[in-house]
Amino acid sequence: MPARKPETDPILKKMEITTQNPEETLILGEKLGKTLQSGDILLLYGDLGAGKTTLTQGICYGLGLARKEYIRSPTFTLINEYKGKGPIYHIDLYRVDTLEEIENLGLEEVLFGEGVSIVEWAEKLQTSAYGKSVGLEEHPHITVKITYTHENKRSFAIEPVNMTDRASPLFSLQ
Ligand SMILES: Nc1ncnc2c1ncn2[C@@H]1O[C@H](COP(=O)(O)OP(=O)(O)OP(=O)(O)O)[C@@H](O)[C@H]1O
Ligand SMILES: [Mg+2]
Repeated sequence: MPARKPETDPILKKMEITTQNPEETLILGEKLGKTLQSGDILLLYGDLGAGKTTLTQGICYGLGLARKEYIRSPTFTLINEYKGKGPIYHIDLYRVDTLEEIENLGLEEVLFGEGVSIVEWAEKLQTSAYGKSVGLEEHPHITVKITYTHENKRSFAIEPVNMTDRASPLFSLQ
C-alpha cells in the first residue's frame, strides 16, 4: 500500500449514513474501504445481525479484495487475513470474553502493524483493560457504530478518532 500522504488523502469526518438493504451496506463499505490506508484500524460496534460482517465485506472490496472472495466471520480462528492491495485483518471478538483471552490473541501486533484491521465487537476491547493497556483510544482509528433501525434499514455512524490528517467528508451513497 502507498505511504500516507496527508496532502492527497481523501478527507474524512464523522458522518451518518442509512442503508436500506444489505447491497447498500456493501456499497457503503466499498466506498469507505477505498479511503483507507495501510495501518488503519476500524472498530465496529453493533448488535448481532447489525451488519458488521456485511460492511466488512464491502470494505474488503474497496481495499481491492477479489469479488469472488467471500468474507465470513472468523469464528474459530478469531483473526482472518485477506489480501487486498495490502493485508486486511478481520477480527471478530464475539466469542472472546476474558482479558486473558484477548491478551492471548496478540492483537497489538496486528492492530499496530502494516495492514488494515477491522474489528467486530470492538466493545470488548474498549470495555476491557486490554484497550487501555495498549493505548487504543489514543491511537488513530475509525469507529463505526451500527444501529438496527428497521428490518432492512441500518444506520452507520462513522467517526475518525485522533486522525488529525483526515478530517472531512468524502462520499455519499449516491
Ligand atoms: N441494510 C442492511 N445492511 C446490512 N445487513 C442487512 C441490512 N438489511 C438486512 N440485513 C441483514 O442483516 C444481516 C446482517 O448480518 P451480518 O453478519 O452482516 O451482521 P453482524 O453484525 O456481523 O452479526 P454478528 O454479530 O452475528 O457477527 C444479514 O442477514 C443481512 O442480510
Ligand atoms: Mg459478524
